[in-house]
Order: sequence, then structure tokens, then C-alpha cells
Amino acid sequence: MPSEPQVYKPDPKLSSSAYVSTIEQYHELYKQSIDTPEVFWGNIAKQFYWEQQCEPKNFFNYNFDISKGPISIKWMEGATTNICYNLLDRNVKNGHGDSIAYYWEGNHPDDSSRLTYRKLLQEVCRFANVLKAHGIKKGDRVAIYMPMTLELPIAMLACARIGAVHSIVFAGFSSDSLGERMTDCQAKVLITADGAWRGEKLLHLKKICDAAIEKADELGHKVECCIVVSHINRSTPGFENGADGFECPWTEDRDFWWHDEMEDSEPACYPEWMSAEDPLFMLYTSGSTGKPKGVLHTTAGYLLYAAATFKIVFDYKPNDVFWCTADIGWITGHTYVLYGPLANGATSVIFEGTPFYPDNDRYWSIVDKYKVTQFYTAPTALRSIMKFGDEPPKRHDLGTLKVLGSVGEPINPEAWLWYYRVIGKEKCSIVDTFFQTETGGHVITPLPGCTPMKPGSATYPFFGVKPMLLDEGGAEVHGEGEGYLVFAQPWPGMMRTVFNNHERFETTYFSKFPGYYCTGDGARRDADGCYWVTGRVDDMLNVSGHLMSTSEVESVLTEHKRVSEAAVVSRPHPLKGECLYCFITPNQNDKFDEKLVSELKVLVRERIGPFAQPDVIQHAPGLPKTRSGKIMRRVLRKIAVNDRDVGDTTTLADESIVEQLFANRPN
Ligand code: WT7
Repeated sequence: MPSEPQVYKPDPKLSSSAYVSTIEQYHELYKQSIDTPEVFWGNIAKQFYWEQQCEPKNFFNYNFDISKGPISIKWMEGATTNICYNLLDRNVKNGHGDSIAYYWEGNHPDDSSRLTYRKLLQEVCRFANVLKAHGIKKGDRVAIYMPMTLELPIAMLACARIGAVHSIVFAGFSSDSLGERMTDCQAKVLITADGAWRGEKLLHLKKICDAAIEKADELGHKVECCIVVSHINRSTPGFENGADGFECPWTEDRDFWWHDEMEDSEPACYPEWMSAEDPLFMLYTSGSTGKPKGVLHTTAGYLLYAAATFKIVFDYKPNDVFWCTADIGWITGHTYVLYGPLANGATSVIFEGTPFYPDNDRYWSIVDKYKVTQFYTAPTALRSIMKFGDEPPKRHDLGTLKVLGSVGEPINPEAWLWYYRVIGKEKCSIVDTFFQTETGGHVITPLPGCTPMKPGSATYPFFGVKPMLLDEGGAEVHGEGEGYLVFAQPWPGMMRTVFNNHERFETTYFSKFPGYYCTGDGARRDADGCYWVTGRVDDMLNVSGHLMSTSEVESVLTEHKRVSEAAVVSRPHPLKGECLYCFITPNQNDKFDEKLVSELKVLVRERIGPFAQPDVIQHAPGLPKTRSGKIMRRVLRKIAVNDRDVGDTTTLADESIVEQLFANRPN
């Protein structure tokens, strides 16, 4: 076990004003949240509007044990509400109509705007009416593939207002990925933009969408209409000539400009009252086998959880300015750019660009410009900024910061300490928030001003979350130790099912350890009861915060007609956290050459997305297989890092393969 790390006490100034200000208070509240969830969450529910209340005895109901029947999770059954109403109308009625909901900062520093709660409500109503005019009704799925512009939250909330289910695909996925997802969720409409700038790179989003609609067509699903935001043409400061010759492909009768549709649309729209367990949105995530899963989140529980985690984990107070750098296309963006902040009437920043444009100090210039109080980003971003040293942040006043968040992967102590010292000046609390697309919001996290911090540990469970560690046989690991990270009871914000495939939901998350939700991560618990998430225990890997499965990449590689077999493993990477290392066996009598390597890279980019591009593709005349034909991946992982300590290989059908693979490593 590693030596005891240093513990960092929260700044007393932060503690004195925090919602939860001592660890004793945390433990007390935590106990209440586990023993009487209906009391804990009932208090949070009180701040929201319920068209119909639920009876206290129905507040929460579940079955986590597959041997006792289907897995089911229900919160506040019988209640009806509308999330959009709670986020917008309620805040406007409470006198926050003129408060800023979003400061929008474009890719170029001269491009910015803002939106008040009142204006946001009007725009959402207008777009809700547009969707209705296109025949979208409660329960229909709406696909969204958009850059980080203000139309993105408007589109999401318009869906929520009329009870349509938004299904956002991060606008870095390829057309194939988008087409497959639209087919899986049977999306009627696709909302996108003509294009977007990322740094100096122009992304042709509508072109990708056209190819995706075609892909869906091939798969037998027709996307009826596509609504397009004219983003490139309306705003390109600094690029006045850069977009010359930019073309947005168009299909009459299927494609519609956002601004044309909005022009005569009424700025009022009565909300659709939704049952507590009606679907709110779905979001695809990779599975260790098979195609991506449509993780489904529902209405009431998600609202409570997004609201509570946002407020408490970031200690958000009126007049604070919150900034989460995540793209809205990920769960972090759904919960902490959209639903959590708006449920609290908060002011946030939405940033379209990258940390490196026009210069490496862009993040800090934005923190300074908007006087950001809570900043939330990913370790991979920190590592890539850190390498430019301390000078870029020193150019700016970062004195407004109180809380610094981290999410997406374990944060290495070096990045943690840099964040703490150089960005936070040792006065900010760092919240290393562990969660998943499936968990909807933070499940293990420190609380600012409250939890003593340890670099690299997500520390303690959030309220209502009951983590446990299990060994391979399913026995509980008590006290200090390591094991599979599972949860023993549901919290309001967890996923309810895999869209259209409840069986897959049950087998993926509930079959390995009956009675528990299995995260797929491993974790260690130290003597203080703090959790240290160690990473995936399945064949999944995390490249710059993007979760993907090795099998997903392998199946793309083997699509190439010159490839006979492929095996992919994860290798540690200094910036990305992990990267893909691929072993390729060409067809018999075919050779392995540079042409094949570059074609394979292109194939992965096209089929999955640019972020999935492998770092290394090496020739494997054969793969290390057991006599039963199972690839010994631990051996491949050793070869990837050039570690000769491969352990026992006597069960391999052909041990000499290992030596050959070491010899074939590219430099
Ligand atoms: C996986 C979930 C959570 C939003 C972004 C990713 C890893 C996430 C942490 C953290 C250690 C973390 C886990 C998890 N992960 N946050 N603070 N410490 N690991 O969502 O794509 O569903 O990925 O990301 O491995 O299972 P996702």
C-alpha cells in the first residue's frame, strides 16, 4: 500500500460559510440520507414546483436484486412536474428574471454574449413551439449534435418543456457514430449548426450530419428533419475571411434554418406535466461489449440530484459565477452546465473554444473576465495546460476562485498539487468528483470547506450514496482494502434503464454481484475510509476523459479487409491519461506496412471519432493466446510499456510469440 499521503485541510474562511462546514456535520447528514432517504430528499424536493405531489409512502421504491425480479428504481412515483418549468419559470417568478443564466464566451475572445433567465425562458418557449410545429410530441426522441452555443441549452430545455427526450451526441463523434445512435433511439429530428470553430480549425458539422442521416437511412431509419443554427455566418470575429468559401450543404424540405423557424414562433408555451419517472434524456456511453448503450435518465429524481450535488459539491451561493469547461455533450455538461446550475438559479459560463486559443492562458483570462468563483475541469486539460508552466495563469487575477473541481479520471497528484498551489493559491478546496454517465451526478466527492483533501482521492460518498468494495467472489471488503466499487442502494439521479434494452441494463450493471450496482471501476479504501478510484476493471479505457472499450476499437480495426486479427490495450499516457495501443495481425501472405497503419488510423477516426485515434499500431505476427483461444491481455499491456516482467506465460499455446512481439515494438 502506498505511503500515507499528505492531508490538506480546507481553508477556514471557506469552511465558515460553507453549506456543510465540518466533517462531523457531513457524517451526520450522510447518516440521515442513508437511513431516511425520504426525509433527506423530501426536504430538497420542497424547493421545487410539483403539479401533483407524491404520497410520502411512495417517495422511493426499488429492487436491486435480479434474483427477486426485474431491476427497478423509482423516485417520487405519483408526482408530476416539468423540469423546464422548475429551471426557468420558477426562477423568473421568484424574481430572478433579470439574473444572468449564461455568459457565453465564443471561440474568439471578441465573440461573447449573455442570456438572462427571462430571455432564456422566451427562447426556450419559442423553440418548443418550433419542435411542436414539426410534430414532436411527448416521448419522441430528438437528436442534438451541436457546438457549445446558447442554442444548445435552448434546444435541450425546449425538449424538456414539451416532454421530448433529448439524445445529445457530442459533436466530436463521427457521422457513423451519430447515424448509429440516431437509429438506435429512432430520433425524429436532428438539431445541429452549420459549423463551428475550435481554435483555428473549422468544423463542418452539417456535412457530418448529412452523412449521419444517410448512415441512418442505410440502417433503415429515417430522420425526418434537420434544424440548423447558422453559427459560422453570424459570428466569426477574427475570422472574417477565414470562413470564405464555407458551404453548408442543404436538402430542401428536410433542412430548416433555426432563425427562420424561430422568427414567427410564440415566446410562450405551456409546459407538459410529466410523471416523476417519465424519461428526460438519454446519453450514449460505451459498453465493454457490443454497441454503445443509451443510458436513460428520468424526471423527478434527476432534478433533485442535479440540484443537490451542484449546490453542495460546488458550495454555490447567490452571485457566484460557476464555470464547467466540459462540453454539454457529456454527462458532466448535462448535469453541471445545464440542469444543476439552472435548478439553483445560478449564473454560469459557457465556453465554445479551447484552452489554447488564441493563447495558452485562455482559461485563466476567462476566469478573470467573468470573476469565476467555481471552476470545474478535467485532469487531462490540466496536464496539457500545466506543461506551459506557471506564467500563463500568473498573467491573470484568479482571486475570485473558491472551489476547483476535477472530473473524468483519477487526478494524478502532480496535477492536483499544481491546481491547488498555482491556480487555487492554497485557498481553494479541490473537489475530485467521481461519477459516471450512469450515475447522473457526483457519487463520491469531497465537499468544499468541509472534507480534508488528499491528492488523488475522491474521498467520501455524496448524500444518499452507499459505496461498498467487493472481492472477486462477491464478499464485502471491510475497512482498509481494495475491490470492485459497487453501490448498495439507489440515489435519485441514477440511470433507470438502457433505452429499449432493459435486459442489457440488468446484465451490465446488476448481474456480476446480485443486489448491487456495479460501476466497473476498482477502488481502494484507506484507514480514514477515503475512497481512491483506481480505474476500470473491465476492458474499458479512458482517453482524455473519453470512455471507450477496447472491443469497440478492435471491431473497427478488423473491419479493414487486410486485417485478420486485432487486439487493443490501454497504455498510460502523460497527457491523455491513457491511450490506445493496437496489435494487428494482417491476413496471411499480406504484409504490415505504413499504408495499413495510416488507413487503420483513418478508419478509427471515421467510425468512432478523432479522439479515439490509436497512438501506436504495431505488427503482431500472432497474438498471445491460451490453448482455449483467449487473448492474454495482461501480456499485451506489458509489451505496450516495454516491461519484460510478463509473469506466468506457461498457459500460452505458443510462448515464443511474446518474444516476437517485444522485438516488433516500434520505437
Ligand atoms: C468513468 C465514467 C463523470 C463524467 C465524465 C466521464 C472515470 C470519472 C473520475 C474521478 C477517477 C473517474 C471512471 C468512471 N472517472 N471521474 N474523479 N476519479 N475516475 O463519464 O464517460 O461515463 O466515464 O470515468 O472510470 O467509471 P463517463
